[in-house]
Amino acid sequence: MRICVLRETAEHERRVALLPDSVKRLVGKKLEVVVQSGAGVGACVSDADYQAAGATIAADAKAALEGAQVALKVQPVSAAELAVLPRGITLVSLMYPLSRRKEVEAVAQAGLSLISLDAVPRTTLAQMMDVLSSQASLAGYRAVLLAAEALPKLFPMMMTAAGTLAAARVLVLGAGVAGLQAIATARRLGATVEAYDVRKVVKEQVESLGARFVDVPTAEDAQTAGGYAKEVSEETRQKQAQVLREHIAKADAVITTALVPGKKAPVLVTEEMVKAMRAGSVIVDLAAEQGGNCAVTRPGERVVVNGVTVIGEVNVPSHVAVHASLSWSRNVEKLLVHLMGKEATALKLEASDEITQAMVTVRDGVVVDPRLKQGAS
Ligand code: NAI
Repeated sequence: MRICVLRETAEHERRVALLPDSVKRLVGKKLEVVVQSGAGVGACVSDADYQAAGATIAADAKAALEGAQVALKVQPVSAAELAVLPRGITLVSLMYPLSRRKEVEAVAQAGLSLISLDAVPRTTLAQMMDVLSSQASLAGYRAVLLAAEALPKLFPMMMTAAGTLAAARVLVLGAGVAGLQAIATARRLGATVEAYDVRKVVKEQVESLGARFVDVPTAEDAQTAGGYAKEVSEETRQKQAQVLREHIAKADAVITTALVPGKKAPVLVTEEMVKAMRAGSVIVDLAAEQGGNCAVTRPGERVVVNGVTVIGEVNVPSHVAVHASLSWSRNVEKLLVHLMGKEATALKLEASDEITQAMVTVRDGVVVDPRLKQGAS
């Protein structure tokens, strides 16, 4: 079986879907790996590094795709990229099918198969193939560094000859994978950390990391059976705002990570709340790409409102492209091994296991994701 690794074309994208580390192991399983020239540049990997691991280099995407059964990418394909993908090939990349139905349809019409990496089940077995988790964790870490760099204060308490400098107060909103890593990182840097999430089960995890959980007295637990959050009622939203207002005003840095699958990100920090913060405070909005958790966030920009810096950086994992690509590559490698089984001659996209069923969005030109077939959102 021949696998090709395509160079990313999206702006801000420095990651690559497969690194030499994984190439070596896949070649050891008798797979052929072809890499589009320059694919690894953003992650500091040269064509020669790939060749040393056993891959061959192709000058462009078209040449890389020739004779390949599988194409690996990070970002969803653009229309231009889709145009060069040959019929019958299996594309493995992000896709976000629930919010991009037209694009999924286009992939089906092009006669491809599609494995959506973002559709990974959040189960113990699938954990090693879970790019959502590996990348969110890096984003959570990086968000804290962005806040620390922009904050005109220190994170840790310091006892100096000139007196004591108090530790920074950090508030993390949304304590999923990214939020928990942000809490751990901010704690490691010495900040005093508080966190809030609509899923009540998270309280214990937050406290185990040495942070204080902000309690919003409401009967609603917004956790779905799948472990994700759902949109909360208007009553809960108002109670949240009431409680969070005070904590946001006292924070030096607010890191927001709250997402609801397939929906626009909930707005947790209003413009009025931003204006109530001290000058010099910082908000890092990791939900910027999904519309933002802060009302004044501008995706891809830094804005200053009343002296408060609001960072709406997009594609934060790409800031640490080397480790982000390494994690991604290992996730994808495990997925390929799972889908190939022992023979390693083809991907078995018809298998009935939970991982295959969840992640195969299009099979041989037919949309098979049950969520799309049922018209669910
Ligand atoms: P996510 O990225 O979809 O959302 C981030 C966080 O925002 C979540 O914790 C969510 O509860 C929270 N949130 C949503 N709306 C909010 C609001 N209005 N106010 C405050 N917080 C809000 O979540 P992520 O990190 O992808 O995790 C989703 C679930 O998957 C969790 O239950 C997590 O424990 C689980 N998981 C399981 C894995 C496994 O078993 N292999 C691996 C990774 C995650």
